[in-house]
Amino acid sequence: AGIKNTASERTFIAVKPDGVQRGLVGKIVSRFEERGYKLVAIKAVVPSRALAEEHYADLRARPFFRGLVEYMTNGKAPVVAMVWEGKDVVRQGRAMIGATNPLESSPGSIRGQYCVSVGRNIIHGSDSFESATKEIQLWFGKPGEVIDWEPANWVWTM
Ligand code: PPS
Repeated sequence: AGIKNTASERTFIAVKPDGVQRGLVGKIVSRFEERGYKLVAIKAVVPSRALAEEHYADLRARPFFRGLVEYMTNGKAPVVAMVWEGKDVVRQGRAMIGATNPLESSPGSIRGQYCVSVGRNIIHGSDSFESATKEIQLWFGKPGEVIDWEPANWVWTM
């Protein structure tokens, strides 16, 4: 599983601490479920500084880097980390989330509906298949943390 451009493509999605504080986890999970994506991993975690710094390694030189890492790791609320699977899920996930700056996000997107500040934009999604592969390994690297499962028509068959 986890093959690019197939129904097993996977992306890493994280509700950031501000999204958890605001009680938006369920709404965000629902949007991915209702779109037709499959939840293959989920956990609430206060990431270590090392994990957050590695996750945002590309941004190390940016002025907001320290503040971003502090906000992700301070433990005032966890991050809800997830892996979602399905057709074109990396690109579609980004479209569902909306632009990085919520003031540029379309109104129907997650950020466009729920937030107004780039430093508190409630959710992260991998920006490419390669980033997704790296981020899934980083957040869910232990064996068995990502679960392959087949939807069954249990209503009629049980
Ligand atoms: S880049 O490299 O220009 O594409 O960076 P960008 O897409 O603008 O942002 C990458 C991530 O950094 C977060 N970000 C910020 N966090 C806190 N404060 C400020 N000012 C800020 N600007 C950008 C942005 O939300 C992106 O985080 P993720 O979690 O990847 O969405």
